[in-house]
Parts: sequence; C-alpha cells; structure tokens
Amino acid sequence: MASWGGALVFVVLCFTVELATQGTAEPLLPAVFVFGDSMVDVGNNNFIEKCNISCKANYPHFGVDYPGHAPTGRFSNGYNMADRLAQLLQFDESPPPFLSLSNASLATRMSTGINFASGGSGLLDATGNGRVCTQVISLTEQVGSFKKLARMWGHADLISRSLILINTGNNDLFECTDFPDHNCHRNDTEFLQGLVASYTRFLKDLYGAGAKKFSVVSPSLLGCCPSQRLIAHDPKNPRDVDEHGCFAAANDLSRRLYPMIASMLQDLSLELPGMNYSLVDSIKMVEWLFNNTATPSYNFTVLDSACCGGGPFGAYYGCDSSAPLCRDRSNHLFWDDYHPTDAATGVAAKLMFGDTTGLFVHPINVKQLVQL
Ligand SMILES: *[C@@H]1O[C@H](CO)[C@@H](O)[C@H](O)[C@H]1NC(C)=O
Ligand SMILES: *[C@@H]1O[C@H](CO)[C@@H](O)[C@H](O)[C@H]1NC(C)=O
Ligand SMILES: *[C@@H]1O[C@H](CO)[C@@H](O)[C@H](O)[C@H]1NC(C)=O
Ligand SMILES: *[C@@H]1O[C@H](CO)[C@@H](O)[C@H](O)[C@H]1NC(C)=O
Ligand SMILES: *[C@@H]1O[C@H](CO)[C@@H](O)[C@H](O)[C@H]1NC(C)=O
Ligand SMILES: *[C@@H]1O[C@H](CO)[C@@H](O)[C@H](O)[C@H]1NC(C)=O
Repeated sequence: MASWGGALVFVVLCFTVELATQGTAEPLLPAVFVFGDSMVDVGNNNFIEKCNISCKANYPHFGVDYPGHAPTGRFSNGYNMADRLAQLLQFDESPPPFLSLSNASLATRMSTGINFASGGSGLLDATGNGRVCTQVISLTEQVGSFKKLARMWGHADLISRSLILINTGNNDLFECTDFPDHNCHRNDTEFLQGLVASYTRFLKDLYGAGAKKFSVVSPSLLGCCPSQRLIAHDPKNPRDVDEHGCFAAANDLSRRLYPMIASMLQDLSLELPGMNYSLVDSIKMVEWLFNNTATPSYNFTVLDSACCGGGPFGAYYGCDSSAPLCRDRSNHLFWDDYHPTDAATGVAAKLMFGDTTGLFVHPINVKQLVQL
C-alpha cells in the first residue's frame, strides 16, 4: 500500500511543521469555548462539592508532568486535549474553567474563551448525575451557561469567529456498557439515536447563540481503555474481546455511533447557514496508533495498561498519590484507567489540527476551519 506509506510521511512532516511554529505568534482566532467531559475538563469539577472524588483530578499523581507538577483537575499527567489544541492555535493552554471565574471576569473572558467541560458528564442529563459521580455539570447546563453569557456579554462577530470544541458521548457509552441494568440495553439503536438527538439540540443551541465553527471529537474505541479491558478480562465473568484484546461490546457502540454523528453534522451544516465543522474520527486515529506505535516523533510501547493505577491493566485501583506510577509517561498510551497520556493526546491534537490526508478529520481540519 504505497499511498498509505505516503500518507504517513506527510502526517509526520505536518507534526514537525506545527511543532516548529507553536508559541511564536498571535492566537489564530479570538477565543475557544470548550464543552464536554473529562477529556477536556480543566478543573470545573473541583468546584462541585458533591462530585465524587473519582470524578475529580485535583490531587497527585494527576498533573505530575504539568508545569509545577500541579494537580489542576485535568485528568492527565500533563496537558489534556483542550490544552493541546489551544496551544496549536497559539494560546498558552485551555481557557480557564467556568466555575473558577468571578462574575466580574466573565465579561472579558467571553472575548478570550471559557472552558465549561465537566468530567463524568455526557450527552444525556442523567449521565454522571447518578451512580458514577453523584453530581457533574450536564451538557444542558454547560450550553445553558454559554447561552446566558452570550446574551449578556457576547459580541456576535467575535463568537462567530471563535472555535467551539466539543468532546462528549464517552460517558454515555461507558455507563451503558458498565451497568447491565442501564436502560440502553432495552434497544441500543434507540439509545444511540437518543444520543445523536441530544447532540443535535446542543449544536443548534450553540449556533443560536452565535457559534459557527465547531471542532467535534467523536468517542474513541472506548473498549480499549484499561478500565474496559479489566471488565472484559474478568476471570469470573469474561466478555467478548476484539482483535486488540479490548471489550468488544464497548467498541461496537463506539463504531456504530461515529457514522451517526458524521451524518448528523453533515445534515446540520446544510440546514444552518454559515455553520462549519471539523469532525475527528477518533476510532480511525486509535486504530492507526495501534498500527503505528512508533514514529520519529513518538514511541508508544505500553498500549493496554494505565501509567497511574494498580492491579490488572493498572485499572483495578484508581490513580491517586498512593497508586503505582510508571517512570516513562511518554511510552504509555493511557495515563489512568480512562484517560490518555499527555503524549497520546498531543499526537491526537496535531492530527485534528493539521491532518491533510483526509483520514482522521472530516471534511476539513481545525486549521482550515479557523481560517475560513
Ligand atoms: C454572579 O451572578 C449570578 C447570576 O448572574 C448570581 O446569581 C450570583 O449571585 C453572582 N455572584 C456574585 C458573587 O456576585
Ligand atoms: C459516588 O457516590 C455515590 C453516593 O453519592 C456512591 O453510591 C458511589 O459508590 C460513588 N461512586 C464512586 C465510584 O465512588
Ligand atoms: C430497536 O429500535 C429500532 C429503531 O426504532 C427498531 O428498528 C428495531 O426494530 C428495534 N429493535 C428491537 C430488538 O426492538
Ligand atoms: C462551510 O459551510 C457552508 C455552509 O454552512 C458550506 O457551504 C461550505 O462548503 C463549508 N465550507 C467548508 C470548507 O466545508
Ligand atoms: C490497521 O491495520 C489493519 C491490519 O493491517 C488494517 O486492516 C487497518 O485498515 C489498519 N487501520 C488503520 C487506520 O491504519
Ligand atoms: C522506542 O523505545 C524503544 C524501547 O524503549 C527503544 O529501543 C527505541 O529506540 C525507541 N525509539 C524512539 C524513536 O524513540
């Protein structure tokens, strides 16, 4: 497959170019507004008293590779996807968490960006707000806060030129596969259709508040997370695994959801004048990483186990200050039982931003989206 080899060389070249330009210029757009779950939360959950400790990340070893080794609420050893994408857009890192901002600063932050994301949340209001985290900020509330701020202090032109980054849907699928009594099991097709219907509503609400440019991250191969491998390989109740040793039922849901999100976005962009988007095929990206674990710019040797955590797959005991911590975070795909390392996130962000092979982002990449 010569053309595939050509594509790889091109991707690697793109990495080098983007790395070289990072941090030297003005931001490529006025503001970034972030919505979703723990893939992009930068500390909102710290402010929710009733949120379970396992749905917070403001204690060691989280943040061990963040500046000052500071645990900030990011579910990562270092930066997360909101940070890594923001950096490619020439910001220092993600905009700050909404709940950390005073009323007085909200007006100015509406012109530079705010992160509304909350770990544990999903497309459904019930996701996270029940047995897993007790209390999180649902997507409905995240979008509601943005709409209110846009009404009070928004500049329509500025919002229309800003980027909306959304990474959600993961926890809806996790809760479905992890709980045999979840109502998704009555009819999983209808469950997935319900998720897409919610997604459509949120995107229309954001558009109604003036947003025009959407970077959408689809749920990845969730069955390959250490937590899901642990479930699938439980000796007392083994489940079907796929060719990568991942929990097949979870990956099956991810694989079915992706094309539904893709066609929903395509329909929306035809319906809503001036709306543009860049959709990441996170499934393709992970498959590609499994096929290409080492390149000149990275080297992943541990694909199945968490860096921080104990027991099988490093997923039996969660990540905290007493958990085992791997020495080399740059060769692990997974930081903890659910989340990628900063190193893996950095690879994903670079593809989102600059991939021009057409394999990972559709119909355009984030760089092209912000330049429209
Ligand atoms: C901030 O604004 C909200 C609603 O706009 C209000 O409920 C809250 O009391 C305000 N907080 C402070 C500290 O002024
Ligand atoms: C979260 O809190 C609820 C009680 O509000 C508890 O039942 C549940 O076990 C907790 N989950 C975790 C993972 O700690
Ligand atoms: C599940 O729902 C879909 C869509 O409504 C329907 O076509 C299908 O027959 C249902 N499947 C079952 C097993 O009921
Ligand atoms: C941007 O969106 C408009 C419709 O809203 C569409 O006509 C145009 O082709 C899109 N541009 C790109 C590059 O996808
Ligand atoms: C990964 O490798 C498998 C087996 O060679 C191949 O079927 C698949 O298309 C590859 N996927 C990607 C995204 O590279
Ligand atoms: C990747 O890691 C292996 C094992 O640690 C090492 O032998 C190899 O030199 C590394 N390659 C790169 C490109 O860093």
